[in-house]
Amino acid sequence: MSDFAQRMTEILNHGALNLAMAIGYKNQIFDILADLNKPVTVPELASASGLHPRYLQEWLGIMVTGKIIELFSDQNAEDTYFLPPEHACLLTRKAGSMNMGVYTQEIPLLTSCAMAPVSTAFKTGAGVPFSSYPDFQAFMAELSDAKHQKVLIDKFLPTVDNGQLLARLTAGIRVCDLGCGLGVAMNLMARAFPKSTFVGIDNHGDAVRKAAEAAQETGIGNAVYKVLDAAAIHGKKEFFSVFDYICAFDAIHDQSHPLEVLQGIRRMLAPGGLFSMIEIKAGSNQAGNMDHPMGPFLYTVSLMHCLPVGLNDQGSGLGMMWGREKAEALLREAGFEQIEVAEMEYDLFNLHYLCKVPLEK
Ligand SMILES: C[S@@+](CC[C@H](N)C(=O)[O-])C[C@H]1O[C@@H](n2cnc3c(N)ncnc32)[C@H](O)[C@@H]1O
Repeated sequence: MSDFAQRMTEILNHGALNLAMAIGYKNQIFDILADLNKPVTVPELASASGLHPRYLQEWLGIMVTGKIIELFSDQNAEDTYFLPPEHACLLTRKAGSMNMGVYTQEIPLLTSCAMAPVSTAFKTGAGVPFSSYPDFQAFMAELSDAKHQKVLIDKFLPTVDNGQLLARLTAGIRVCDLGCGLGVAMNLMARAFPKSTFVGIDNHGDAVRKAAEAAQETGIGNAVYKVLDAAAIHGKKEFFSVFDYICAFDAIHDQSHPLEVLQGIRRMLAPGGLFSMIEIKAGSNQAGNMDHPMGPFLYTVSLMHCLPVGLNDQGSGLGMMWGREKAEALLREAGFEQIEVAEMEYDLFNLHYLCKVPLEK
């Protein structure tokens, strides 16, 4: 077999494995196997999971040939299946920010939503409306939950502006989460800093409603959510100089009009204000991303979602891999003069762009 034929074989196998792992993840099979923490037969797994044994048996065939789950034989020569702890710690919901299992769902989800519209868009150059991705917000919230639960309050915020943001949040400041989605990050912050006030902004009405419901259900009284097009804010005087801290997690590259959004953010910040933009760590030139460990995966997510939604409304279509050089240039064009870019040791795939607004003299 030629090297490329070998590589093609791996590609086909890994694509199939990703799909099967996504189905397993959705049905919590990895979590159940990790909790069982011993080799189990198909009937035992079926009984623990409530799933159908015939489907489980076929799925386990994929997992053992794919070297995700180990196959043994018990004393009755019956097949038993074991998820090794070193795999479980990357595949289960309990793995928190180390959970890579949650990402197996991303390509299957985007394929089911957008395979046809994106294929058509290749011919027209048009965008794909956000409404084509009905399950996207729920999936993003699942990702955010895995990502933020363990690190946002304890690791990320304490590093911002050398710890000064944490002191300000504790004392009480005005915060905005722009492109807040289902409010996972903002509700965590609002709960942790009761003296601060929080405003979540997103143009997705259903997500905003659910974010507000989640805040209400958990007794959070210092968070409000608004349905707003972030690109329109730079023209709204009532939003000028009303926030001390604005964050945008994974939200700027999806914008159709990112420059207007960043200009709006600049105007929303009071003197001495801070803006945290969290975006994928990449270079703006493809040649600079040749050694990126997740290059094909991230470019595919961008192709199937970020680029087409960013092309809507005659948008600029930045794509998720717009990269550091373009990001810094756009922040500067929007009026930010002081920009610090930092890597995060607990999040290898993103960069933190911290923009500071000077205090008035
Ligand atoms: C990739 S999601 C990130 C959501 C959230 N920050 C998180 O980390 O889970 C991008 C978000 O930006 C929102 N968005 C896109 N265009 C927007 C616009 N013009 N105005 C406000 N929000 C927008 C989307 O609705 C979506 O919730």
